[in-house]
Amino acid sequence: MATATKKAMAKKAAKAAPKAVAKAAAKPAAKNGVHKNGTRTNGATTNGVHKNGASKPAAKTAIPPKKGKGSFSEVPGKYCVRDISLAEEGRKLIQWAESRMPVLMHLRDKYKKSQPLKGLRLAGSLHVTKETAVLVETFAALGAEVSWSGCNPLSTSDPVAAALAKGGISIFAWYGNHEDFYWCIERTIDLKPNLTLDDGCDLINTVHEKYADYARKEVIGGTEETTTGVQRLRARAGAGRLFYPVYAVNDAITKWDFDNVYGTGQSTLDGILRATSVMFAGKNFVVAGHGHCGQGVAKRAKGMGSNIIITEVKATSAIKGVLEGYRVMTMDEAAKEGDIFCTATGVKDIIRKKHFLSMKDGAIVCNTGHYDAEINLKELAEVTKSKRTIRENCEEYTLKNGNKIYVLAEGRLVNLAAAEGHPSEVMDMSFSNQLMCHLELAAAYKAGKKLPNQVLDIDPAQDEFIAETKLRTMGMAMDKLTKDQLSYINDYNAGT
Ligand SMILES: NC(=O)c1ccc[n+]([C@@H]2O[C@H](COP(=O)([O-])OP(=O)(O)OC[C@H]3O[C@@H](n4cnc5c(N)ncnc54)[C@H](O)[C@@H]3O)[C@@H](O)[C@H]2O)c1
Repeated sequence: MATATKKAMAKKAAKAAPKAVAKAAAKPAAKNGVHKNGTRTNGATTNGVHKNGASKPAAKTAIPPKKGKGSFSEVPGKYCVRDISLAEEGRKLIQWAESRMPVLMHLRDKYKKSQPLKGLRLAGSLHVTKETAVLVETFAALGAEVSWSGCNPLSTSDPVAAALAKGGISIFAWYGNHEDFYWCIERTIDLKPNLTLDDGCDLINTVHEKYADYARKEVIGGTEETTTGVQRLRARAGAGRLFYPVYAVNDAITKWDFDNVYGTGQSTLDGILRATSVMFAGKNFVVAGHGHCGQGVAKRAKGMGSNIIITEVKATSAIKGVLEGYRVMTMDEAAKEGDIFCTATGVKDIIRKKHFLSMKDGAIVCNTGHYDAEINLKELAEVTKSKRTIRENCEEYTLKNGNKIYVLAEGRLVNLAAAEGHPSEVMDMSFSNQLMCHLELAAAYKAGKKLPNQVLDIDPAQDEFIAETKLRTMGMAMDKLTKDQLSYINDYNAGT
């Protein structure tokens, strides 16, 4: 990209940005977004832009106190993490992930000189794992100012959060953040983002519902990482309440078919193992929902010797289970047979009071869907006599009927709460999609092109590029269609 064009683009971005932010962005940012004088390019310096804060992100002086108890490492307006002294441990984890994310690292190398995100501010809400850190630092390396929060109370790696904060990223996240979940999201909005990145729509919802005016005028676009989030987005767009374009990253083939299937399959079993250390072989393993995630979980549990039972509401997904050799039944029936239950539907109340009451003594129940709504813990409490913690992420409920039921990770996604989430290798493709979509949004904006306020599909060429690059980094090659084969495909007269 020519320097003159880049300058013009940066000027345009700065023009659209609130004044104080634009001023900060115009300063030469040193490594990791920290100015040479030690102040950051975001957070506190971005305040006081909007004269009337009613529908605008909060100003610095208005930062409300946290509700959560315990000790934190905190620099108001810049970061709030559990313990900054964990940074070195976190940095090693990030380096480990980098070494297994060649596609994303290739994109970082490819674009770091041209700085395509310079002048833009990105707020993200996505599980703070080592892989997410690689994405966050790639955004920063490409010129964006970034502010981050987790998207689940139990999925933040405190060492990784500390490493990001120490590296100059604005981040508000810690493991066990039940009370201040939205406080953290609000702090990322203090950055006055013009790009958003979500996993489950909590950030988008907050921006749209609390700062509708801002969302309409200042935000260029966003991305959404997960199935449930994309469903929420489509509902929002259908109701005419989506105020900027959002790419459905989840729906990319190189995301949905790999991350949700193979990533969730492996990491969910990892989470169950870390929380229980049970043997899978010989157990009746009930998977609720045989979609992408459910297929992955069922495949891997079968591989470990479990007998799989599927519950479904969609006949085609149920048939897929039958053809894999699984039994398919209703949850009312499965509840009586299962030893281990895992929900993967994205829908609430999959396991309810009547199911708990008919379960075997010792049944293990967990969830790998986005929200903690799939297992109805309120109804479980109604039939519970006593409760105690057996080990980390494993709660024993003794029911009034005398049976014991073990719930993992408070019914939150077990692979992130009790383990480390998906392996880096698969997140490499998901997060390359995230990055490429934000590059698209930035390029469209800088070219003065207005994208529609809709849920946007991923360009198939992007999918193909990511898959091809991944294959190449794995040392594998593919065949190419010959000219003859190509014309054969397109020949409507070719027959027997
Ligand atoms: N744990 C993780 O790391 C992770 C990763 C990706 C996605 N997710 C989340 O997992 C959930 C599932 O995602 P997906 O990509 O597999 O979605 P999907 O749409 O591919 O599959 C969901 C399946 O659940 C079925 N279902 C819906 N209601 C049901 C009910 N009442 N009983 C039984 N089955 C029912 C649907 O018919 C569908 O087949 C979502 O919440 C998604 O956001 C979690």
